[in-house]
Amino acid sequence: MSKQSRRSFLRIAGSTAVVVAASHYALTRHPATALEPWQQAGQSYTDPKMRALSFAILAPNPHNLQPWLVDLKTPNQITLYCDLERLLPETDPFNRQIVIGLGCFLETLHLAAAEDGYSIEITPFPEGEPGATVDRKPIAQIKFEKNQSSPDSLFKQVLTRRSTKEPFDPARPVEAETLAILHQAAMPYAVAHTSRDNSQVQQLRDLGWRAHQIEVKTPRTNQESIDVMRIGKAEIQANPDGIDLGGVMLETLNHVGLFTRKQLADPKSNTFQQGLDLYSKIHQTSMAYLWLVTETNSRTEQLAVGRAWMRVSLAAMAQGLSIHPISQALQEYPEMKTTYDELRALLDIRDSQRIQMLARLGYGPQVPPSPRWPLVTRIVSP
Ligand SMILES: Cc1cc2nc3c(=O)[nH]c(=O)nc-3n(C[C@H](O)[C@H](O)[C@H](O)COP(=O)(O)O)c2cc1C
Repeated sequence: MSKQSRRSFLRIAGSTAVVVAASHYALTRHPATALEPWQQAGQSYTDPKMRALSFAILAPNPHNLQPWLVDLKTPNQITLYCDLERLLPETDPFNRQIVIGLGCFLETLHLAAAEDGYSIEITPFPEGEPGATVDRKPIAQIKFEKNQSSPDSLFKQVLTRRSTKEPFDPARPVEAETLAILHQAAMPYAVAHTSRDNSQVQQLRDLGWRAHQIEVKTPRTNQESIDVMRIGKAEIQANPDGIDLGGVMLETLNHVGLFTRKQLADPKSNTFQQGLDLYSKIHQTSMAYLWLVTETNSRTEQLAVGRAWMRVSLAAMAQGLSIHPISQALQEYPEMKTTYDELRALLDIRDSQRIQMLARLGYGPQVPPSPRWPLVTRIVSP
């Protein structure tokens, strides 16, 4: 392009008409139906179980696969199952993270029911814990009882809670008092540990970044993420789950062949490199860390960790603090083993104990909600 034509192009691109047209186009790319469950929560139902469930489906969960399925055939009771089609066998071979996500679902259900004056009694694994992988047996049985259960102020954050997968403000530290609130929030269900110590934070930044590179440079674990990516509005609306990559920029780049699944799988491509650059920045701007530890690794403890994680996330939101789980170093596959052991040594974890969640903390931008399948699609048909 000549200097003259570049100037004319910039003039046209900057003209009001083009800016209005571009912002109008941006609005048309908004995946509105995929986000409807966030607007509909608590709105569309009078039945207390359905009301509470409409919030529970907004819980955080690995790769947003939403592995929950509920059976409502017994009055005043919900039986929770894991959808065995919604697992991550490469990065989560023992379904440990999946069970934690189901625990997040249970805690959200509990908070939403309490808001309506119901207490719920949760029996984890009523037919026994699953073994090495989850199975068809129920994850939990939940009984509803009207008894003026008192609301929990954490519920206020259920609709604003997000996992903030963004760089954080490097000039804004996380105060010790803020971390103390997170410890308190986790307390009923798991022990939270935190660090804002400069040298340990730097070690965790470096370790998290290395673990990220192992995951994306191991073809089968990288491919597992690529397989659940939804690029652009049409894909997001067709499957409101997985890793949603929306917005005008990514959708346009995808259409012109500059942001494709093939490139994301190819460590030599520019797209792959740009992903690495972004994640390097994400890891290097972590301002503090939080991790949740259990004494053993029972399925019941994993479920409890999910409840703790949900509470920690809500408490963080209430403080205006951004929170981002980074699970790579905790993943149980051979290529990660050395980094996993290194993390355990760094955090002084005893042999029998397990780190169940690791998250970076800091102050990041506000991010939009992630898509959800409507509640009706998560109910087991009679
Ligand atoms: C057990 C568990 C592990 C997770 N691990 C990661 C992770 O390693 N990296 C990440 O970006 N998000 C992670 N997440 C966050 C999910 O990706 C997120 O909850 C999901 O995409 C839905 O988005 P939302 O939390 O903003 O509603 C994890 C969540 C859970 C419950």
